[in-house]
Amino acid sequence: TSGGRETFLFETHPSPMAASEREALLQNPGFGRVLTDHMATIRYSEGRGWHDAKIEPRKAFELSPSTVVLHYAQEIFEGMKAYRLPDGGATLFRPDANARRFTNSANRLAMAPLPEDLFVESVRALVRTDRDWIPAAEGASLYLRPFMIATEAILGVKPSSDYLYCVIASPVGSYFKGGAPAVTLWVSENYTRAAPGGTGEAKCGGNYAASLAAQAEATREGCDQVVFLDAVEKRWIEELGGMNVFFVFEDGSLQTPPLTGTILPGITRDSLITLARDLGLTVREEPYSIDQWQADAESGRLTEAFACGTAAVVTPIGKVKGRTRNFTIGDGGAGPVAARLKATLLDIQNGRAPDRHGWLDRL
Ligand code: PLP
Ligand code: COI
Repeated sequence: TSGGRETFLFETHPSPMAASEREALLQNPGFGRVLTDHMATIRYSEGRGWHDAKIEPRKAFELSPSTVVLHYAQEIFEGMKAYRLPDGGATLFRPDANARRFTNSANRLAMAPLPEDLFVESVRALVRTDRDWIPAAEGASLYLRPFMIATEAILGVKPSSDYLYCVIASPVGSYFKGGAPAVTLWVSENYTRAAPGGTGEAKCGGNYAASLAAQAEATREGCDQVVFLDAVEKRWIEELGGMNVFFVFEDGSLQTPPLTGTILPGITRDSLITLARDLGLTVREEPYSIDQWQADAESGRLTEAFACGTAAVVTPIGKVKGRTRNFTIGDGGAGPVAARLKATLLDIQNGRAPDRHGWLDRL
């Protein structure tokens, strides 16, 4: 039904993989290479609404070559994680926030919004089915990727009449390999990520397609991630290719760019603002320019900077490079404020600290 009361039909199958083989994969999963056995799917058809909610063995899709998503990129996605708890159980973290952002993304891309309770239920159902795939190692988790594609087969440019919503899951370790204490950023001057009125605050595949040339440039320059500036003045720091950014000052205060419509409203960003304030720290949501960043890093007024996101968790930034700049933050390694916020967040997500804000959704 379109009212969100669709119940899931379960079609589980024995894992095609021996438990020992799965355990070996869980030891060192990397990021996004390994997928679990099942997927959740729900279909939408104009006139009929949402129907056919299923947990089924993961399999390939069959699409007409004229399918809307293949031509006009009408696609949105989410990123979230399931964590192991000390008692062996599992939990999601703020799935309602991902559901709400998915609705906002759907509206921006003129797609049928999925009822938010159905979004949360689909993720829960998949994690329950594939719970043996949640890694137990410290820092590891089960990454969940809900997404939706336009499935009408038509070349006319208009919102699709039909959609396929799907959730897949992937056991993951840390996003950045190499285990360096801090990452190096490349300041993108040739490319911007999002302009006012564009799709910057939606989580749509097109934003990431548009970021790839900038990320490739960063990689060529020996950097780990790209940092984007605003599209109008090319001065204000917005975010990284797949993470939000925070700055930490000598006086102990924090600052992060405001949600002006061109950056992704990160759930990690939102959670860290709350946790930092709980710890008694001042947090400002105010614009910060790249010139000021360099000046403050060089004078020592800025002591730390870090990236944050579901995949990246909290990742210290050690160096910033660009066509005309090259500066180091602090001693170029991990700082104490980032370390404290990361530990505070992970302790809640892994059930080691009280869940004061009601963020956990235990399965
Ligand atoms: N910004 C971008 C562009 C992202 O891709 C992500 C990751 O999802 C984030 C920020 C952080 O968002 P969240 O904390 O909700 O994962
Ligand atoms: C996430 O953190 O969920 C993202 O979508 C970022 C991406 C770089 C994996």
